[in-house]
Amino acid sequence: MKRIIPVLAIALGALTSCGEGTAEEKKSITAQAASSSKDQHTQSNADSVTVKHLDLDIKVDFDQKQISGSATWSIENPNKKDTLKLDTYDLTIDSVLVDGQKVGYALGPQVEHIGSVLNIPIEDASQRVVIYYKTGENPKALQWLEPQQTLGKKHPFLYTQSESIYARSWIPVPDGPGIRYSYNARVQVPKGLMALMSATNPQQLNDSSIYHFSMEIPIPAYLMALAVGDVRFKSIDERTGVYAEPNMINKAAEEFSEVGKMVHMAEKLYGPYRWGRYDIIVLPPGFPIGGMENPRLTFATPTIIAGDKSLVNLIAHELAHSWSGNLVTNETWNDFWLNEGFTVYFERRLTESMADKSYADMLWELGYQDLEASLKDLDPKDTHLKIDLTGRDPDEGLTDVAYEKGALFLKLIENNVGRERFDAFLNQYFSDNTFKTMSTERFLTYLNEHLIKGDKALEEKLNIDAWVYGPGIPKNAPRADMERFSKVDAERERFLKGTDARQLATQGWTTHEWLHFMRKMPKPLTQEQMKQLDDAFRFTQSGNSEIANLWFVMAVAADYQPAYPAMEQFLSQVGRRKFLTPLYNEMVNTGKQEMAKTIYNKYRMNYHPLAQMTLDKLVNEQ
Ligand code: BES
Ligand code: ZN
Repeated sequence: MKRIIPVLAIALGALTSCGEGTAEEKKSITAQAASSSKDQHTQSNADSVTVKHLDLDIKVDFDQKQISGSATWSIENPNKKDTLKLDTYDLTIDSVLVDGQKVGYALGPQVEHIGSVLNIPIEDASQRVVIYYKTGENPKALQWLEPQQTLGKKHPFLYTQSESIYARSWIPVPDGPGIRYSYNARVQVPKGLMALMSATNPQQLNDSSIYHFSMEIPIPAYLMALAVGDVRFKSIDERTGVYAEPNMINKAAEEFSEVGKMVHMAEKLYGPYRWGRYDIIVLPPGFPIGGMENPRLTFATPTIIAGDKSLVNLIAHELAHSWSGNLVTNETWNDFWLNEGFTVYFERRLTESMADKSYADMLWELGYQDLEASLKDLDPKDTHLKIDLTGRDPDEGLTDVAYEKGALFLKLIENNVGRERFDAFLNQYFSDNTFKTMSTERFLTYLNEHLIKGDKALEEKLNIDAWVYGPGIPKNAPRADMERFSKVDAERERFLKGTDARQLATQGWTTHEWLHFMRKMPKPLTQEQMKQLDDAFRFTQSGNSEIANLWFVMAVAADYQPAYPAMEQFLSQVGRRKFLTPLYNEMVNTGKQEMAKTIYNKYRMNYHPLAQMTLDKLVNEQ
């Protein structure tokens, strides 16, 4: 499915809005900013003051919809700075103590996207900085669910989504992917609810309602995560398991029964899993994204539970981040493709070893189609692998370019040097850079030193510059084998030429064959064609979210009304941006703005603040 950029930030940018200076000057400032590896999305100075460890002590208050408590930072000040700077977004700071003494602190002005810097005076020997704080009105990272928005309908639920720069909206933190620290946490929640974090987790409800966590491996702030709700645990094997609401736990455990094996397969490919346990929490349907690779505990949408394990490649993706992203982390959001492109490549390799090549080939092809579609809407500059997000919301880099063009680039290298050599290279890359930060430039140097090694013919074949610093899909891009999809194409053609839907040879098709079948349908189909497909394949009633979503888009295009009640039901619950955006988009683009507005405003409160930001623009500001 096409990934659409959250349209919140019309890229005015800090530079253009300051008004002074000629266009020429501005250009050269932008160029400088892009070439330096300074992270433009944090105001923290944790590159010069060492931030080692966080002790978080917080209370989760569902009545006030507020997190409050203290964040204690263990620091060292080798460069003798007079200030520690942390990121905050809409936090209320109550007081700050340095080594037990109250100090005068200063919150900087609110900068668009970035928030306010918290300036704390420190001395050369300062060690412990305690900040008492609470969250503001509408923290971007948090979604508070009323009981009726959960499956069980009895208890409220809270979850965070900190990537890319939202951790600062619930913790005062040095919030850049290049800054790592270990953490402990004490979290107090209402009775009867469990708390889980990106850390060592409980497996049972606890009577005191106080939970303790530790993550002794240093991680960046975007991997800080918390979920609180009525959840149960079920183990998959000795190091993997799943958490979900009670009435979802068995289904979830069944769907993910192969995840233990998946972790073993991943280790076989790229070396040891270094995080201890690997668990998954299945969140309520309002979760705005598919999955998030929070260490030790992947956060996942329930929309991947299809009943037939056909959408578990999303778990392969989040698991793969335990190497690409969590072990080796993009230095700034401009290098985001190092996280996501590597992960998509790894995910496909993992899918290939769990299933087979023909299956992975379908995913490669669907990804290629996504990329082609996204390129049409993007500024060519934003189609380079290395992009410049200076002055912009880093979520603008969340496009298929980072994911699919990034993965294709790695596939191209694999094809040219052979799988064996490339796998050895990646193993070495992960082990040499474990728990480190990586920039695009340093990756290219590493690639030259360890793989290309001056081989001019190889260099020419790869044409690295075109991939990393050039637009679009370079000519040497690899394309997957279309064996299974050609059969699908043939059946679609037969249908369009009049063969009855019931006569089509669809036996044995998996979700991905169906997706290809539907995606390449002309739009709109006639009422008769829609009805025939629906009668034959029951798309309106599909329990598979990917298929249902595509079908609803086709239904909107064709104004096929029998699908509308099911579509509204879907939109009333599902908060996954990847599904909401194309559906509302189709309504707006086919003259059904009123329908979009009515449905959206009815269910807006069920969506996460990040999804609301995207959809407010799309639906309400037309
Ligand atoms: N890390 C991303 C999610 C993310 C990236 C959230 C940037 C916010 C900012 C996660 O690993 C991801 O890519 N999720 C995908 C699923 C995947 C199978 C491509 C999603 O949620 O769609
Ligand atoms: Zn990812």
